[in-house]
Amino acid sequence: MTDVVQLEAELTAAIAAAANERALEDVRVAALGKKGSIAELLKTLGSMTPDERKANGPKFNGLRDRIQDAIAARKKALEDLVLDARLQSERVDVTLPAQDAPRGTVHPVSQVKDELIAIFADLDFKVAEGPDVETDDYNFTKLNIPPEHPARQMHDTFYLKPQADGSVPLLRTHTSPVQVRTMLAQKPPIRIIAPGRTYRRDSDATHSPMFHQVEGLVIDDETHLGHLKWVLEEFLKAFFEVPKVGMRLRPSYFPFTEPSVEVDVQCDRSGGQIKFGEGTDWLEIAGAGMVHPRVLEMCGIDPNAYQGYAFGLGIDRLAMLKYGIPDLRPFFDSDIRWLKHFGFSALDIPALDGGLSR
Ligand code: DAH
Repeated sequence: MTDVVQLEAELTAAIAAAANERALEDVRVAALGKKGSIAELLKTLGSMTPDERKANGPKFNGLRDRIQDAIAARKKALEDLVLDARLQSERVDVTLPAQDAPRGTVHPVSQVKDELIAIFADLDFKVAEGPDVETDDYNFTKLNIPPEHPARQMHDTFYLKPQADGSVPLLRTHTSPVQVRTMLAQKPPIRIIAPGRTYRRDSDATHSPMFHQVEGLVIDDETHLGHLKWVLEEFLKAFFEVPKVGMRLRPSYFPFTEPSVEVDVQCDRSGGQIKFGEGTDWLEIAGAGMVHPRVLEMCGIDPNAYQGYAFGLGIDRLAMLKYGIPDLRPFFDSDIRWLKHFGFSALDIPALDGGLSR
């Protein structure tokens, strides 16, 4: 019976030495398979006398059971090893400070745009969009600026190549054509803002050929300047994060609004810093007015049934004012040092709860 003892020792050693599941399977087949060493041993029981069988049967069966158990245990151990190795290689240290990981920053224009969207969404405005390349019709004519209208000269337009049909596409000079697109596509009530890029042939410390505006448009059966004033006041309070703002509407002229106003916000420039909401200075912040009935008409809305108000704000200027950025030109220079200094963390998502710019 040294055979059984020796076989068990050999198999046990082979099981322990099996470095992976495939090697272990080979050991299992060699021992317990149809022609395996233990199977062969069990077969010898048939040719034994009853006494021999009585003595050897339990030994052989015991050997088989122990080897089966040993293989199962080794299998489990190997599986655990594989799992441990995988866990180790996929380990993530959740205690690492995430803020240090991302290298890029969110541009102040993007950040302010997100702030605007958060504030106006809270006032029930939806975001609308339009293309940067516009038609003359949408950028001017349907906004009550017909060809030869002097207001066209104020816009310093970039014109593109004339098309086969004679039309000349242009880079939109303001976000106001999104008003036209929205009115042509939707029925009142309309309540949208349209942030986006705009273009004019202009470049100095406070003008860039590409800049950003946000347009606002509300059309309903009962709207008036008071609504406009309230909405802009709420916006300014939320944006500059002050409890109250002084605001004034000055009469002005835009072809697409009647009456037209320019909106000034009260501020204090003493002490080399600009503070909003109080003080003796005024800073122009928006153009606005009641949508001109001719504009409504050209955009398919009955001016006898509906009125609306509209406003336009410069996003870059809002960013400069809020975050104390003195010059507009570096906004679009992609200088990594500037972006590091004035940029925002990607995790700093503007939301109204807890203050916009925590
Ligand atoms: N589109 C004007 C501009 O770019 C700004 C503006 C003024 C927009 C009055 C409006 C508005 O919606 O009502 O100078």
